[in-house]
Amino acid sequence: MPLTRTDLPLRLLRRGKVRDVYEVDAGRVLIVATDRVSAFDVVMAEAIPRKGEVLTQLTAWWLRQLESRVSHHMLSADFSSIVKTVPSLVPFSSDLTGRTMLCRRAEVFPIECVIRGYISGSAWKEYSAAGTLAGEALPKGLRESEKLPIPLFSPATKAEEGHDENITTARMAQEVGSAQAAELERLTRLVYQFGNDTASTRGIIIADTKLEFGYLKSEATASPDEEEFDPSRVILVDEVLTPDSSRFWPVDRFEPGRPQPSFDKQPLRDYLDGERRAGRWNGEDPPPPLPDEVVAATSERYLDIFRRLTLSPLEIGAST
Ligand SMILES: Nc1ncnc2c1ncn2[C@@H]1O[C@H](COP(=O)(O)OP(=O)(O)O)[C@@H](O)[C@H]1O
Ligand SMILES: [Mg+2]
Repeated sequence: MPLTRTDLPLRLLRRGKVRDVYEVDAGRVLIVATDRVSAFDVVMAEAIPRKGEVLTQLTAWWLRQLESRVSHHMLSADFSSIVKTVPSLVPFSSDLTGRTMLCRRAEVFPIECVIRGYISGSAWKEYSAAGTLAGEALPKGLRESEKLPIPLFSPATKAEEGHDENITTARMAQEVGSAQAAELERLTRLVYQFGNDTASTRGIIIADTKLEFGYLKSEATASPDEEEFDPSRVILVDEVLTPDSSRFWPVDRFEPGRPQPSFDKQPLRDYLDGERRAGRWNGEDPPPPLPDEVVAATSERYLDIFRRLTLSPLEIGAST
């Protein structure tokens, strides 16, 4: 059964668009990826079977590939070992298996670390109108979806409501500190480069992605303001290189000068566009009901991208 929402006997810290985040103790959180799906910033009423498992196990897989390069928040994505630490979850096994990650708790930097190898989405919109991104000039004459000379780090604020706002790296440095901003950019570039190199051996372009980082609190009692920034306490958190946080394009259909077909939500986006053009939906909440075929096709896409990237299918109750 697809899962739209959880109610666990732990303190709920946050219900995001997709994930329910619970406190386990002072140092750990439990992150449950539901099967909720959003498109055009609207969360659909229907859930996409197995989507939460794909997001959780794909993140787990990437974090293991990145293990020697970047410190991260994952403690376990294997439910049988998670319940050993959090026995109150036993009655929820069938809902939680595969889609749950036990994580180190971090103070999340309030920045979406976006990196773009190709110009698309909101970046293309601004560039085609003004030749800029977050107000800064880009090379002239780029076409939609074109590869950028070097990947562009393009941070955004994490908006509580509505759309995230692209900001300059100077503004980011004001928000989080300049040493912090430089470290987040370095790590973002490293993860993107590794991810895109890996994906390219599977016929997939990662056009862009969004990462989040957190800071591990120190146990020292010194006043936090006086504490010096320690880059070794920065960890990669949240979801990593998933179809929800990234644009994945099939390399064999790549053709700059137009939008690219995407691996994941394309059937959903196409359906919603059709409803909009037919005047049956105004693009806002509530979304139109989704036909079963659209739900099934979207589920297939998520499973397909998992299989292509990891080179093995997502097993039932998987813990990769
Ligand atoms: N290790 C962590 N410690 C604390 N918070 C985290 C950690 N990893 C992720 N988060 C937070 O959990 C939330 C995940 O929920 P999500 O559904 O992705 O929310 P959103 O709608 O904001 O994208 C995000 O707000 C993210 O910042
Ligand atoms: Mg998120």
